Amino acid sequence: HRLVVLISGSGTNLQAIIDACQAGQLDAETVLVLSNRPDVGGLDRAHQAGIDTVTLDHRQFDSREAFDQAMIDAIDPYRPDTVVLAGFMRILSPLFVRHYAGRLLNIHPSLLPRHRGLHTHQRALEDGDTEHGCSIHFVTEELDGGPLIAQAPIAVTANDTAQTLSNRVQQCEHQLYPLVLQWRAQQRLSLTDEGVLLDGKPL
Ligand code: GRF
Repeated sequence: HRLVVLISGSGTNLQAIIDACQAGQLDAETVLVLSNRPDVGGLDRAHQAGIDTVTLDHRQFDSREAFDQAMIDAIDPYRPDTVVLAGFMRILSPLFVRHYAGRLLNIHPSLLPRHRGLHTHQRALEDGDTEHGCSIHFVTEELDGGPLIAQAPIAVTANDTAQTLSNRVQQCEHQLYPLVLQWRAQQRLSLTDEGVLLDGKPL
């Protein structure tokens, strides 16, 4: 199962995926890491693991569609079975989402549909949420709104800060993404007109 992973930063989710593959927990191969920002930690992680990388600086393109088409042109030669957004901080155009429909996944650091968008940990604290966590979903044209695949809840404690929540949520992410991607690698997880199917049954 061929994975292309899109990043914008430290790449700790990428690292969790790399580690799971190397540990035999994920029957997949990351064949390309694409970043929209140069010199980020995730690119070093890819180089350490001997994975091809492409950096496309979105500021060098005069439209979102031109940038997204350049990403498609860089990605498709690698023949991905699944395209994985892992800390990728760009809003994707309908062009890109349609091109990879049904094989494009994202992880978001909240229990969707709560806290779409940014600064999710701070917002969970401000709202007095008693639970928080991360969500993995298929990407559709709705921002952070695609059909849910899996979520990992954590309890929010009285002395939590955005940083302590972020740390615990990331630990969940690093467990959940390899698990969900293994379902993809085993051809168990798909997006159909009736929604998300795992082993042929609606989730
Ligand atoms: C993660 O918390 C992810 O949920 C969010 O971006 C953060 C960056 O993670 N989308 P990473 O360390 O770059 O994988």
